[in-house]
Amino acid sequence: MAAAPDAENPGLDLGELAHHPAARDPHDDSLDATGRPRVEFPEPTPKTTHGPARVIAVCNQKGGVGKTTTTINLGASLASYGRRVLLVDLDPQGALSAGLGVAHHELELTVHNLLMESRISADDVLLRTRVDGLDLLPSNIDLSAAEIQLVNEVGREQTLGRALYPVLDRYDYILIDCQPSLGLLTVNALACADQVLIPMECEYFALRGLALLTDTVDKVKDRLNPRLGMAGIVVTMFDSRTLHSRDVMARVVEVFGDAVYHSVISRTVRFPETSVAGEPITSWAPKSSGATAYRALAREVIAQEK
Ligand SMILES: Nc1ncnc2c1ncn2[C@@H]1O[C@H](COP(=O)(O)OP(=O)(O)OP(=O)(O)O)[C@@H](O)[C@H]1O
Ligand SMILES: [Mg+2]
Repeated sequence: MAAAPDAENPGLDLGELAHHPAARDPHDDSLDATGRPRVEFPEPTPKTTHGPARVIAVCNQKGGVGKTTTTINLGASLASYGRRVLLVDLDPQGALSAGLGVAHHELELTVHNLLMESRISADDVLLRTRVDGLDLLPSNIDLSAAEIQLVNEVGREQTLGRALYPVLDRYDYILIDCQPSLGLLTVNALACADQVLIPMECEYFALRGLALLTDTVDKVKDRLNPRLGMAGIVVTMFDSRTLHSRDVMARVVEVFGDAVYHSVISRTVRFPETSVAGEPITSWAPKSSGATAYRALAREVIAQEK
């Protein structure tokens, strides 16, 4: 069945998805979940010095695709490899903060203060987490006002970048958990990031909107941040047992090629459980497939540096 042309996604012909010829045979062990030859990413060598940070905006305007889960677990995995990591909660829902066990509604100082008050520094807001090497700039609902308040500021798109600048040298990675919108807060993340990492839920309609996202990334690169690049697309909520999941995967790899990470995150109830536990899956269930997958993603992210 041919679908109508999709104005939002000129490059993505969703109609061709059904029974994609490249959908891999799940029993072929030489191929990984993306349908490409399996690649092992080496155990990273320990670091003796730290910084300057590679800033990665974890971004997708579609809700519930695994942005926050990826920020927490990629961050904790990078920290487990001896990297110093700062996570920035840039979503007024505060899910990142809650997911790390922070009582975010009771916080005195949050990212909102950091953005709106020049006398507040990142160090004033920064919290240590229970994970060694993993720090957090927390947020709560206060941040929802920032989008409107920032509109009248001079250099409004660079506010987050200015606030993070003093701590760049201390970290190897700064991961920014964006809210599900392409508004001013997300633009602030893109304006100060070196790279964008896009979590994409492995289902048909998730392909929609990716062109709008890459378009926004291109605009920010053109107008605000020429060094902005693509870290990669990480496919989440993958279910290797269904042909649908494999069809979507094959299509994503066909359209985005090498930008798709080899590490794939499967769908598992362990993730919702860890949100309740307020801990990364890498410490809550370190042997689980979810923890293994995020550690593999961390090795792949580290390997991109060479
Ligand atoms: N691989 C997975 N398998 C199953 N459930 C998952 C997986 N990844 C995330 N989830 C669950 O899906 C829900 C949405 O995930 P998450 O909060 O990470 O998405 P998000 O993109 O940050 O959402 P939002 O757009 O609202 O910020 C959460 O309940 C989370 O626990
Ligand atoms: Mg989120």
